[in-house]
Amino acid sequence: MRRMLVTGGAGFIGANFVHYTVRNHPDYQITVLDALTYAGNRENLNPVADQVTFVHGDICDTDLVDQLVSQADVVVHFAAESHVDNSLHDPEPFIRSNIIGTFRILEAVRRHGSRLHHISTDEVFGDLPLDSDERFTEQTPYDPSSPYSASKASSDMLVRAWVRSYGVAATLSNCANNYGPYQHVEKFIPRQITNVLIGERPKLYGSGQNVREWTHVDDHNAAVHLILERGRIGETYLIGSGDERSNREILELILQLMGQPTDAYDLVPDRPGHDLRYSNDSSKLRNELGWRPQYADLESGLAATIDWYRNNTWWWEPHKRRTEAKYQLLGR
Ligand code: NAD
Ligand code: DAU
Repeated sequence: MRRMLVTGGAGFIGANFVHYTVRNHPDYQITVLDALTYAGNRENLNPVADQVTFVHGDICDTDLVDQLVSQADVVVHFAAESHVDNSLHDPEPFIRSNIIGTFRILEAVRRHGSRLHHISTDEVFGDLPLDSDERFTEQTPYDPSSPYSASKASSDMLVRAWVRSYGVAATLSNCANNYGPYQHVEKFIPRQITNVLIGERPKLYGSGQNVREWTHVDDHNAAVHLILERGRIGETYLIGSGDERSNREILELILQLMGQPTDAYDLVPDRPGHDLRYSNDSSKLRNELGWRPQYADLESGLAATIDWYRNNTWWWEPHKRRTEAKYQLLGR
């Protein structure tokens, strides 16, 4: 058995990663380290509770991180503050968890020689013009726009420096927007689905023209496993399905799939500094490691995600009112 430490394993992508690993890679013995912030939910691990050891703790806790990393062959580092709107309102937790937290992980990995995979985002590159075919590549210079993306860019830089100067065995990946089950109701797709389910009107920022590239969370996690198995140490891999849609298109699709009029939403004030478009060129991952998205059809992936929220009201309902109260304060 290989011993794997998953940080942030009670969050959206981390929990799906743990489920995916238990299903497809039973040779891993998994420990999850998660601080259970507002975004973490122990219940996300209910289906695999018997196969996973859960540790409630902070990645900034030097001693705890050292002890857990010393017992791990592989560390997959998802833990982070992840929501751009929150970072604009209160940047400090982002600096702490995303930068200091990654530093703590790196120092422990340096001491104990574990293999590290660092999960990052395409937001580190800034944005692309709306009307262009340009895509981010592994060579695109970093140009982050928000406190969130600046903190993730900083964490990536730390990982690269620890690889070069200390010989830490790390890889990095930068994925585009994910969707799927267990995503917090603050994020775009779950917010709109759950608004419809409670009879509230969905909320579109600005004019809804901003474009995102949507990747199913299982496709992201399959890529992470390929990188763990065959990725080259020190290398960065971009992950993205290639399916770009404007926010307005996504919202209209959700409304249509949920049997609502496609104009039944409100336009709300735009996010400050709102990135226009993301698009990842994932040919390195596809050509070197053979990755292909399995959820090639966004419509059916979205329909399954809508069904998941419809059938799991118990999971999101307790968080919905508090999340909307936060948005009300932001005027969005
Ligand atoms: P999330 O907010 O749903 O989950 C984050 C998890 O990290 C939560 O369980 C939280 O409790 C935990 N956490 C936060 N701070 C911690 C700390 N100091 N110590 C221990 N645990 C802590 O986030 P997500 O959407 O699942 O994102 C996971 C990772 O993937 C992040 O690194 C994010 O930057 C990256 N990413 C996300 C997306 C996306 O579309 N959601 C896309 C690309 C990359
Ligand atoms: O690209 C990867 C990134 O994707 C990750 O690094 C982040 O962790 C993740 O949160 C996501 O960032 P975005 O800012 O793109 O995601 P969000 O779900 O917040 O918003 C998606 C788009 O929808 C964005 O253009 C803002 C818009 N939006 C969002 C909300 C919550 C709306 O129009 N209305 C909304 O209510």
